[in-house]
Amino acid sequence: MYRISVVPGDGIGPEIMDEGIKVLEAVGDVCGIKFDWKYFPHGAEHYLKTGEVLPDEALKEMEKTESIFLGAVGDPRVKPGILEKELLLKMRFYFDQYVNLRPIKLYPGVPCPLKGKGPEHINFYVVRENTEDFYVGIGDRFTDDKHNSILEIKRDLYDLKFNVDITKDKASEVAYQVGVITREGSKRIMEFAFELAKKKGKNRVTAVDKANVLTSVYGLWRDVFEEVAKGYPDIETEFNFVDAITMWFVKNPEWFQVVVTPNMFGDIITDLGAMIQGGMGLAPGGNINPEGISMFEPIHGSAPKYKGKNVADPIATILAGGLMLEELGEQKAADMIEQATIEVIKEGKTLPKDIGGSAGTSDVGEAIAKKVREL
Ligand code: IPM
Ligand code: MN
Repeated sequence: MYRISVVPGDGIGPEIMDEGIKVLEAVGDVCGIKFDWKYFPHGAEHYLKTGEVLPDEALKEMEKTESIFLGAVGDPRVKPGILEKELLLKMRFYFDQYVNLRPIKLYPGVPCPLKGKGPEHINFYVVRENTEDFYVGIGDRFTDDKHNSILEIKRDLYDLKFNVDITKDKASEVAYQVGVITREGSKRIMEFAFELAKKKGKNRVTAVDKANVLTSVYGLWRDVFEEVAKGYPDIETEFNFVDAITMWFVKNPEWFQVVVTPNMFGDIITDLGAMIQGGMGLAPGGNINPEGISMFEPIHGSAPKYKGKNVADPIATILAGGLMLEELGEQKAADMIEQATIEVIKEGKTLPKDIGGSAGTSDVGEAIAKKVREL
């Protein structure tokens, strides 16, 4: 019996979550796993009604469950940054979900925008660090009445002297944001990446950075990667600059096996990864704390304009449910979800709109749940 926190969220969130749960229930029936779903109302609607985003009491309640299943959050009526930082990032940080695991797999029958590439070419993992880098939230905006030139500002920025008086004059507004990389934070994510490579039979780990420009943070990142790599002599390693890796994802995706990346570059390259695996509708992600409580979600957003229309693709959420089972140690059940999804796509009778079909959100969930029971 697993207690699971469920945060359906906004937009298409509740619809795709229903299908994710439908498929988990089906695989639970087959494999003898029971779930106790604990629903949380948090998201844009709740925030607009109550002014509350995600209080600590909710996190404490989630702490009593084994895992968290999240639909999507976000709404055009809420200013950017509020739900992102106070809900999604708050959960990732509170539970120290330092791994953002994003498999990039193209399944047979899914249209790929890359010419001449098929499922045999696109099958790798992005392991995104999930708690550091430019996501730590250190930054500010202020009006600067003290400096006479950008050079003076830079000099003070280097000295980290931010005690500037606020004036009404916006002409000299300045903003800064600090990225933080730690040795421990890098080490644990890189070890996870190498262990994943071993577990999944992959023989290359690629580290992403921009160490040619952001020399402090990614210089440390590189040093740690070299050290961690020494512990895995059977696994090939390499560095890729982030700009170059976007090119290689398109040109030679078959090269990649496990990619380990700092937080912000990981955010960017996994949207590209989602496109080469057939689109955002198919891309699941896990926010994992291997020793704690993890959270699983589709990597796409809440798509408010499709809300309630039964057109959204639930596959990313269904696959995220599979990643959750894998993390809970239910490998057989996890494999069944992936297998059933692959079969339904291959048969091509119940395809969602984003991959060329006309089936509704609930039909796709139904078909995959039915397939699970037939496997
Ligand atoms: C993602 C999202 C989030 C991120 C946002 C919504 C905070 O884009 O999960 O990729 O930047 O990590
Ligand atoms: Mn993103």
